Amino acid sequence: MTTATTTERFIPVCEPLLDGREREYVLDCIDGNWVSSLGKYIPEFEKTFASYCHATHGVACSSGTAALHLALEALDIGPGDEVIIPSFTLVVSANVVCWTGATPVLCDVEADTWCLDPKRIEEKITPNTKAIMVVHMYGHPADMDAIMDIANRHGLHVIEDGAEAHGAEVNGQRVGSIGHVGAFSFYGNKIITTGEGGMVTTNDDEIASRVALLRNQAFERERFVHHHVGFNYRMTNLQAAIGLAQTEKLDDKVASKIAIAERYDDLLADVASLSRPVCKAYAKNVYWMYGVVLDESLHRPASQVRDALAGMGVETRAFFVPMHRQPVYQGKHKRWPDLRGHYPVSDHLSRYGFYLPSGCTLTDEDQVYVADCLRSACCA
Ligand SMILES: Cc1ncc(COP(=O)(O)O)c(C=O)c1O
Repeated sequence: MTTATTTERFIPVCEPLLDGREREYVLDCIDGNWVSSLGKYIPEFEKTFASYCHATHGVACSSGTAALHLALEALDIGPGDEVIIPSFTLVVSANVVCWTGATPVLCDVEADTWCLDPKRIEEKITPNTKAIMVVHMYGHPADMDAIMDIANRHGLHVIEDGAEAHGAEVNGQRVGSIGHVGAFSFYGNKIITTGEGGMVTTNDDEIASRVALLRNQAFERERFVHHHVGFNYRMTNLQAAIGLAQTEKLDDKVASKIAIAERYDDLLADVASLSRPVCKAYAKNVYWMYGVVLDESLHRPASQVRDALAGMGVETRAFFVPMHRQPVYQGKHKRWPDLRGHYPVSDHLSRYGFYLPSGCTLTDEDQVYVADCLRSACCA
């Protein structure tokens, strides 16, 4: 046992890994003076990443949030429409729906995959429902076969939020190419990063051209004459240069995430008081972050165990605070809806779940130390 009570050791929850041709490509942008949102790396990154996702089109933008917003706008979702989203997710999922003027409708998640539960979706569908927004949580893909089947029967669009799941697969098909439109984030803690950045992926030509139009202030051929309200959600050539180099290494990064998860699985196999990530038969889980959920029988919330780990130099992150618990969505704000309701699985995950250091820079020694610290924090 290597656990210490006080330590100078610090293991971050995640760090970016720029181990490819990032420097070379960025210098090429600077040397060529192409640093804004024009330049060859943008289409190259779009093509390479979309193809990685098995999608026909990729439209790079300034963040994962922008990608989700553009996806909804391109589907013409707006006032009077409802979009079904998971109750357990980042607040961005609800926010982007609200920005369009539509209403988010919450649906609980599965206890094992932590993704939208297909068994609970149909009870949420009304004549106003226009789309289902799926979040592939912490690297595990949602049950897309079941969700696409529901969507097709009810004539709904499906938006896949793949921010945390680059390269994840459902029966061999990559996320971001299964629904009508996908959205990815390249924030610094994501499987690949551009610092900040995002991309919309789709196999639909019309959605792709609408997203590209709206990303760039809806500028059209006749300059300064606008037929749509667009946004400045452009990505820079510098970011795309990093993104291209990162995509070239994406297979390695996914393999390293899977290896980290398998190692934690081994190291934590004897800790009975917590559940670990699953991988359903249909899924390739890319384990963006290795989440654990404490058993209620431990009688301690995640915050207590996380504090103990922090004292030993192990950084962790709490699971999301569900949408129905967000102060901004309690019916007290005239612009935002009241999303209060009963979502017990989300509540449970939020109270007892957190994730361990999972970056590609983690060493085997780090993982052994983290596992020892977690075991002692759970058993103390
Ligand atoms: C599930 C999910 N969706 C969307 C986003 C938003 O991405 P970004 O931070 O790039 O706007 C994130 C990022 O953290 C995320 O985890």
